[in-house]
Amino acid sequence: MDRFKIEGGRRLEGTVRISGAKNAALPAMAAALLTAEPVRLQNIPHVRDIITMAKLLAHMRCHIESPDLPPSEFTIRAETVSHAEAPYELVKTMRASVLTLGPLVARFGYARVSLPGGCAIGSRPIDLHIQALEKLGAAISIDHGYVEARAKRLRGTTFRFPKITVTGTENILTAAVLAEGETILENAALEPEIPDLAELLTKMGAKIEGAGTPTIRVLGVEKLHGATHVVIPDRIETGTFLVAGAITGGELLLTNCDPRHLGAVIDRLKECGVEIRCEGQRGLRVRAAKRLVAADVTTEEFPGFATDMQAQFMALATQAHGISHIRETIFENRYLHASEMVRMGANITIEGNLAVVTGPTPLTGAPVTASDLRASAGLVLAGLVANNTTWIDRVYHIDRGYERIEDKLRSVGARIERVSDAG
Ligand code: EPZ
Repeated sequence: MDRFKIEGGRRLEGTVRISGAKNAALPAMAAALLTAEPVRLQNIPHVRDIITMAKLLAHMRCHIESPDLPPSEFTIRAETVSHAEAPYELVKTMRASVLTLGPLVARFGYARVSLPGGCAIGSRPIDLHIQALEKLGAAISIDHGYVEARAKRLRGTTFRFPKITVTGTENILTAAVLAEGETILENAALEPEIPDLAELLTKMGAKIEGAGTPTIRVLGVEKLHGATHVVIPDRIETGTFLVAGAITGGELLLTNCDPRHLGAVIDRLKECGVEIRCEGQRGLRVRAAKRLVAADVTTEEFPGFATDMQAQFMALATQAHGISHIRETIFENRYLHASEMVRMGANITIEGNLAVVTGPTPLTGAPVTASDLRASAGLVLAGLVANNTTWIDRVYHIDRGYERIEDKLRSVGARIERVSDAG
């Protein structure tokens, strides 16, 4: 198992190119199941979850090609799909495997997908995906830990999500595009990954209106065709590097990003005193604050402050003057990084879903354990500003969603290396 060794205290300076968004690439790959023709996806990040999704599609007998290595582009052909099934072995390593449920049942009339089960950050059920598919006319049964969905052809309907769900919206959108008649999805997620998916589906021949607003209208078509699509930049990787510049007293230029997707994060960082400005349409420059001050954050659905940036913001708050209140409203157990930061010297107390961070406190290197993807990112950021050496265990979590984070950080001056057990 790999670990990171970080020698903190280095100011970061330079340019970092942001990768494609994992959470946009995953539903786009699943959407390729909707047609027998090739779907070409560009700006794919080289991260573990994408490899898992490629394995899952290969398991279903899709044909996947990539012109480069490591792949930044895939052409997926779902001409013959003989196994309309997402097995437990793959779903347990990546919950987003459930994104294949909607496209499979819509095109093949049958899908069998393992229930994802619990997760480090919360219980994370998929009951709303199931309810919506039932409303579209699928017969659902749950057997031996698997969801089985059957439908001759899905039928358009109106479904109001009782709670906003990102992958739920994506799953049902990719089912409704092949349903008979009109589907109206109300209280849909607004995250930028949704309009990106709708753009791909529209290129494939789908009829969609309103993606990126709470009401999405889909007029089902009989068949979809191939398309080429460039996946949007990763807004969470962008936010993570904004904090990396800010926490190390540095200055970074982030390229190939989309500042429109980071409004709430940029606003909170500016409130802390961090200087951030757009450089053209695809660039952001971050310059550390002269004096970092505390700010309050509540995680919310887009366009609010993303839960996927909460751990990184907490790392920054440990270095800010004053008391920051962080409220996590999306997942019930997303503070596992806090106790590790406390072991590094942070002053953080947790009361229910509220974390109170009093700063600044000097951090000192310690061996710490990553518990999930974004928690790991928070610990890396804490390690960058800590005295001495920080060892981060279980970095496979970070490999799920960050492309070569240690190389990118090293290229702008960080002292971070990957140490494998063998080495
Ligand atoms: C997506 O997860 C992201 N994953 C997550 O990113 C992200 O944290 C999350 O959205 C919130 O922004 C992908 O896009 C692949 P939800 P998702 O369904 O879709 C509850 C990362 O680090 N809920 O929007 O699974 C749920 O428990 C990951 O990259 C139900 O109750 O999240 C949660 O409290 C982690 N029933 C809330 O809704 C359901 O059927 C929002 O979850 C579905 C969700």
